[in-house]
Amino acid sequence: MTRIAAITLLLIALMGTSCRQEKEISVSSPSGHIVAQFLTDRDGRPAYRVAVNGREVIGLSHLGFDFQEAPSIDKGIGIDSFQTRKFSERWELPWGEQRHVDNSYNELTLFLSEREAPGRHFSVVFRLFDDGIGFRYHFPRQEGMEHVVITDENTCFQLTGNHTCWWQPGDWDIYEHLYNTTRVNRIDAIAARSKNVLAQTHIPVNAVNTPVTMKTDDGLYLCFHEAAVDNYAGITLKVDTATLCLQSGLVGNDFGFKVKTKTPFSTPWRTIIIADSPGGLIDSKLILNLNEPNKIGDISWFKPTKYMGIWWEMHIDKSTWQMAGGKHGATTQNAKRYIDFASANGIGAILVEGWNTGWENWVGIDDREGVFDFVTPYKDYNLKEVVEYGRKKGVDLIMHHETSSAVTTYEQQLDTAFALMQSLGLHTVKTGYVGTIIPKGEYHHGQWMVNHYRRVLETAAKYKIAVNVHEPFMATGERRTYPNFISQEGFRGQEFNAWSTDGGNPPSHHTIIPFTCLLAGPMDYTPGIFNIKLKPYKPNNQVNTTLAHQLALYLIIYSPVQMAADLPEHYQNHPAFQFIRDVGVNWEKTKVLNGEIGEYLTIARQERETGNWFVGAVTNENPRTLTIRLDFLEPNKTYNATLYMDGKDAHWDKNPTSYRIEHQVVNSNTELTLTLAAGGGAAISIL
Ligand code: NOJ
Ligand code: CA
Repeated sequence: MTRIAAITLLLIALMGTSCRQEKEISVSSPSGHIVAQFLTDRDGRPAYRVAVNGREVIGLSHLGFDFQEAPSIDKGIGIDSFQTRKFSERWELPWGEQRHVDNSYNELTLFLSEREAPGRHFSVVFRLFDDGIGFRYHFPRQEGMEHVVITDENTCFQLTGNHTCWWQPGDWDIYEHLYNTTRVNRIDAIAARSKNVLAQTHIPVNAVNTPVTMKTDDGLYLCFHEAAVDNYAGITLKVDTATLCLQSGLVGNDFGFKVKTKTPFSTPWRTIIIADSPGGLIDSKLILNLNEPNKIGDISWFKPTKYMGIWWEMHIDKSTWQMAGGKHGATTQNAKRYIDFASANGIGAILVEGWNTGWENWVGIDDREGVFDFVTPYKDYNLKEVVEYGRKKGVDLIMHHETSSAVTTYEQQLDTAFALMQSLGLHTVKTGYVGTIIPKGEYHHGQWMVNHYRRVLETAAKYKIAVNVHEPFMATGERRTYPNFISQEGFRGQEFNAWSTDGGNPPSHHTIIPFTCLLAGPMDYTPGIFNIKLKPYKPNNQVNTTLAHQLALYLIIYSPVQMAADLPEHYQNHPAFQFIRDVGVNWEKTKVLNGEIGEYLTIARQERETGNWFVGAVTNENPRTLTIRLDFLEPNKTYNATLYMDGKDAHWDKNPTSYRIEHQVVNSNTELTLTLAAGGGAAISIL
């Protein structure tokens, strides 16, 4: 047993027999300010608690499992031994919101077993970082426990206060809910269920999806999620509004179990990011650090890029995905038009949706197997010609595979589809999983789909293909292991503003998602709408921000593929489009300059290749003035800043396209005062 300074073993009470032994074993983070204690109580129930700066933030919380055809693991457990380890490394992200990641933790592994039959043994591993904790269970291979069917994992998080919480209902099928802001005791996922207008949704109990974020009354920020989910079900957290206890509620299926597996296996990490400021949540790399290093080798074939799409025009009904009806968007001619525009404006790629046959029969149909294939273009779209035209003009094609959740069809065609892409030299695919999963009874976030998404990533890697998943299983940091997992969308992207019947995404949405779902990983939000009122296409819908706010989203929402989502004709000759031309997509450094969840946020990022800085600031429905210091710039150097600001009379609803552009010479001593309109923003390039 190794002993390190950070670890103490407190033998609180020895009750005579080994199964009556009550021990507490503590481990602290490298700086010592976060401490987790593990113990088995008088009944041998395993439990833990967490303190920050001497104050308990997670009270006594029990751990356990329920199984099919085997007794639960809950009491009669003893600690056989424990091990400690200190670890520190700095590793490099091949692409990302920053280049280097520090990964330093103290680890405590507890080897546990049942004192009576069936005498199963397992371990719990805690990793304590300065930005939070992760812990997971490991079940070694053992006699009598070869095949395992988990009906629930009972991991508890006992809150120590009725915190303010940013939550969305614990939906097994989709994350496309607006976030609610309430105290924990007011969480009501069932009420949220009744307001639901989504294509697929299943909210069985009062639970929340993760990442879920909270603020304690003394100003500590907590975000609960998970890391490294592999051959396991996704998590929701069941909420007991009386006791303020959150308990893991694994996503299941209609067949009565949550996870089927074999020993040896490890569960995903259960994670809590802990920060003393909202920006600290964004700075945290704990979830990435809890994943294994890159498994797929060289990823230089994937280049972060801005892109445009034959995409928004379908969402606003200017054109259609299907060919029938005479308004087909994905024609060779239209694709060339987008390529011309992209090429002239330094945009590296275009996405073309609705290129393959099947779109006449894909939505609202029960039997969707076999409807789509991923190799047959519509007659008016010459795939090869488009790819070649793009190549000559320096614009790549991003392939689109809408599976309509007919998962078996997709798996059968995966190799053929990726081989076609490989033969055309294409390296990025956007996948989609609209609708309920076929086979019926499975859900998007259950083990069966977790395994499917993983198979797609692994297969794609073999063909040197990067995947941007829509309607995904929430990221859990696997982009460290599979850096071809580049982005995802499934939590109310821009598209909702085009057609949703509930008013679209309010301005405050963009001041909540960076502190919640975006902590899971990059998001393909598709910013940059300039025709905010969607005229003349959608008189009853609109984007709920100012134009400057749309520009700021290129910094506020991180993704290595960042769309310029509006139509070429809305960008043509628009002075503010210069910002989208200039803004980077791959970053050396990221700095959160200020922020309050649900209120406002300012982020500065430095581009890797050029060293240029860009700043984005957004506010919710309230106008506000933010002062920022440019002390992140190199000292004794001057820069040319271009500020894209809300016009004096701008307002997200009444006057969203009012903007002004100002130029200023700046240096590391400069202070800028940004005046943001209601629902407004500011975007700055510093070159
Ligand atoms: C939903 C996706 O989020 C969207 O981007 C896509 O255009 C449609 N599905 C059709 O695949
Ligand atoms: Ca979507």
